[in-house]
Amino acid sequence: MKKMVAPSLLAADFSNLSKDIEIVNQSEADWFHLDIMDGVFVPNISFGIPVVEAVKKHAKKPLDVHLMIVQPEKYITAFRDVGADLLNVHYEASPHLHRTVQEIHNAGMKAGVTLNPHTPISLLEDIIEMVDLVLIMSVNPGFGGQKYIENTYKRVEQLRNLIDKKNSKALIEVDGGISTDNSAQLYKAGADVLVSGSFIFKSDNPVQTISELKK
Ligand code: DX5
Ligand code: ZN
Repeated sequence: MKKMVAPSLLAADFSNLSKDIEIVNQSEADWFHLDIMDGVFVPNISFGIPVVEAVKKHAKKPLDVHLMIVQPEKYITAFRDVGADLLNVHYEASPHLHRTVQEIHNAGMKAGVTLNPHTPISLLEDIIEMVDLVLIMSVNPGFGGQKYIENTYKRVEQLRNLIDKKNSKALIEVDGGISTDNSAQLYKAGADVLVSGSFIFKSDNPVQTISELKK
């Protein structure tokens, strides 16, 4: 397992974003995680394409963009053009997921598929070989600072088994309510990348908090 961390900028200080970007640059974090919410797929609105573009100007690590929007396929090239390296679309928002994954690849990005907490892992059976990453939500998407759902450990194990069975190269990423209370057990269950927002940016020393998550 790779033990990677992707800090979620949703919990950063938007009035001084370059400071928090610099913290991530200086830390052991692997990627930036950017949460795009449309107020339709999820009951909240976050930020959009111009903010991703601004982050890209300062970020020295790859941008992992998590689209919590309906019809994500409409915006693939728009996010590519502002610097997304990996584009995550929700399974629940993608009736033509196979085509959407192909389009993300054709646009030159890595493709991730995200599952809400109730969506069975087994639904990935026929797509797992072509995706670069699966993002398992460990909260219901839409807000930072929510409580981690315990059932996620079991889901990570199920996904690890499916990936091994299919000989897929997909990474497993987990998002929501992540702290040092659950990080070690998630890596043990088979997670490769942990997303964390509040736990990192509300801590006194985010750089140190990031290294603690990786231990
Ligand atoms: C939730 C987002 C998460 C969020 C995580 O819908 O997808 O990435 O920023 O925040 P915390 O770590 O505070 O739960
Ligand atoms: Zn996210």
